[in-house]
Amino acid sequence: MTRSVLIIDDEPLMRLSMLDALRAEGYQAQEASNGEDGLKKTRVSRYDVVVTDLKMPGSDGLQVVRMCKECSPETEVIVMTAHGSVDTAVQAMKFGAHDYITKPFSVDEFLLTVRRAIEVQDLRQENTVLRQALEGQFNFDGIVGKNEQMRQILDKVKLVATTDTTVLVLGESGTGKEVIANAIHRNSPRCDRAFIKVSCAALPETLLETELFGHEKGAFTGAVKQRLGRFELAHKGTLFLDEIGEVSPVVQVKLLRVLQERRFERVGGGETIESDVRLVCATQKDLKKEVEAGRFREDLFYRLNVMPVTLPPLRERKEDVLILANQFLRQSARRAPRAAKKFSASAQELLLRYSFPGNIRELENTIERAMVLAREREEIRIADLCGHTNCPSLGGAVQSECGFCQEGLSSSASVRGTLADVRERCEKEYILSVLAREGWSRSVAAKSLGLSRKALWEKCKRYDIATPDDVESSV
Ligand SMILES: Nc1ncnc2c1ncn2[C@@H]1O[C@H](COP(=O)(O)OP(=O)(O)OP(=O)(O)O)[C@@H](O)[C@H]1O
Ligand SMILES: [Mg+2]
Repeated sequence: MTRSVLIIDDEPLMRLSMLDALRAEGYQAQEASNGEDGLKKTRVSRYDVVVTDLKMPGSDGLQVVRMCKECSPETEVIVMTAHGSVDTAVQAMKFGAHDYITKPFSVDEFLLTVRRAIEVQDLRQENTVLRQALEGQFNFDGIVGKNEQMRQILDKVKLVATTDTTVLVLGESGTGKEVIANAIHRNSPRCDRAFIKVSCAALPETLLETELFGHEKGAFTGAVKQRLGRFELAHKGTLFLDEIGEVSPVVQVKLLRVLQERRFERVGGGETIESDVRLVCATQKDLKKEVEAGRFREDLFYRLNVMPVTLPPLRERKEDVLILANQFLRQSARRAPRAAKKFSASAQELLLRYSFPGNIRELENTIERAMVLAREREEIRIADLCGHTNCPSLGGAVQSECGFCQEGLSSSASVRGTLADVRERCEKEYILSVLAREGWSRSVAAKSLGLSRKALWEKCKRYDIATPDDVESSV
């Protein structure tokens, strides 16, 4: 990535030699001959480094440092001081300058100072990403959840994990139901025993029955040997029944009996077997509706619904989108040496705007594909997320089969609801994207949004947006 440097100095020859040295090293370098012009330039473009003279006719160098840091805090400022004026250099550093260099200096000395500033900046950015990831995790089994609803769910899951209570995990496809089931087992007293998973949708009724309860030799044609069921294999451990909403009425009766009496018989067998399993079930279906429609037994529903955990769809936890996206990016980057390291600002905005009908699974797959498409590039762009070469962001047409194109890139076509709803949604998403872009700094974000800090704080509160500032102040 090309780095940009702005030189502010009133001496034309000095400027020229610095510009030449920087350009020869591949930097994008610009110049300004006084503080006022320099500050104007920093307001229009973002520079990685600003190198400014402290003594210029008509401008106060210290003021330039202060204002530059104020309008662009990520920019590293290096001040040039005359020999013997270390005091002013120290003062400049109090105003936020990163380093100083004493005139006269050699080209090598100058380039080294700029390079060091950029290295520090890279480290700082990396730290921000790591800090966000850490703060996003809220310490339950590595599960990301900065969103308030998710935090409450994780608190509840943490508590219930230590018990033997049956848990029913609900949520759309890809919201992380299996991840939660796993976390419950790993954090339970049964963690060193088996965690057995059965996908109830994958098997026809009779097979599911033998899968769950096992069968005796000769129980049916083809039962040449005795076979233990999953309930027996999970003895003293956890049994995870995925897609429980798909279970047939016959199996529902058998399940109800194990839950009530803690015992069962193998198919075709007379021996009663004691069962000590912790049950975690999951479904995408609305089980209450299934009960109303007569497809699911009410008594079984109440047995399973002791501790329901409903995972929100990703579109309702926008705070977590970029944290998860960065986590997937890092995981993927670890496997590929020259992988992309971040998302472009517009890609971040698109991630926040898109509704992810396939939830976290879709986000994970999207990032994996984007990493392949963005190989050898530093940044993931909009077109990498879309995944097609003729992406509208590259001048192509909106493609009917592409969700990103349809929802994220096309303007108001997919917007629904009253004007107030739409305005609120837009406002929340935009605030989130600016906060993400500004490294979650509320004061910087407030400035770019043209709001006072207080007004932004109020909006964050209203839209349930937590920033690291809140987290820090609440610890
Ligand atoms: N909080 C999370 N942090 C990181 N990855 C997650 C998180 N939650 C889910 N995932 C990832 O998202 C994908 C989908 O999760 P999971 O399989 O648990 O969803 P599900 O709700 O069981 O989906 P389905 O209903 O389709 O079975 C998985 O690859 C999982 O690793
Ligand atoms: Mg699942």
